[in-house]
Amino acid sequence: MKTLVAYFSWSGNTEKIAKQIAAKTGADMFRIERKVPYSEDYSTCAYVEAKEEIDKKIRPEIKTPLPDVDKYDNVIVAFPIWWYTSPLAVWSFLESYPDWKGKTVYIFANSYTDDYNYMTTSVKDAKASARNANVAAGLFNKEINKLDDWLTENNIK
Ligand SMILES: Cc1cc2nc3c(=O)[nH]c(=O)nc-3n(C[C@H](O)[C@H](O)[C@H](O)COP(=O)(O)O)c2cc1C
Repeated sequence: MKTLVAYFSWSGNTEKIAKQIAAKTGADMFRIERKVPYSEDYSTCAYVEAKEEIDKKIRPEIKTPLPDVDKYDNVIVAFPIWWYTSPLAVWSFLESYPDWKGKTVYIFANSYTDDYNYMTTSVKDAKASARNANVAAGLFNKEINKLDDWLTENNIK
């Protein structure tokens, strides 16, 4: 069973989580990035760029080359919650592949507010973007403390 950790991170929190998962499993890593980077200024990023994308459901262009997901059985998709769900760049990533049949996509999310509804929404949105994938909730916020148990339970190596 091969695993890819595909992550999006703006201020570094998710990147730490992604690296932790990769270090424990030996999984490959891929960073999802918008082709035109988001502003480093929080207000511009949050209230202008990300807000417009969520309001209009814009799928931004993302940096290529993308990984060949056919090589993997499991893809852990990790990101910060942006406006109550995943950043739209994550939707772009998931929609870049025509068919996720036979693969499990595990959602790992983190956010400022500890509201599990964010995870539920993220899973629902990922199901709509990752065609035919088996999408499952991974760990949310403080649940990352249970990473070792989660990896064992889900047979992720
Ligand atoms: C554009 C933007 C939108 C955000 N929206 C939310 C939100 O709706 N709810 C929340 O609890 N946190 C929100 N946050 C906070 C991030 O989810 C949180 O800081 C996360 O840990 C950042 O991860 P990162 O360092 O990998 O980018 C938002 C942050 C940004 C930059």
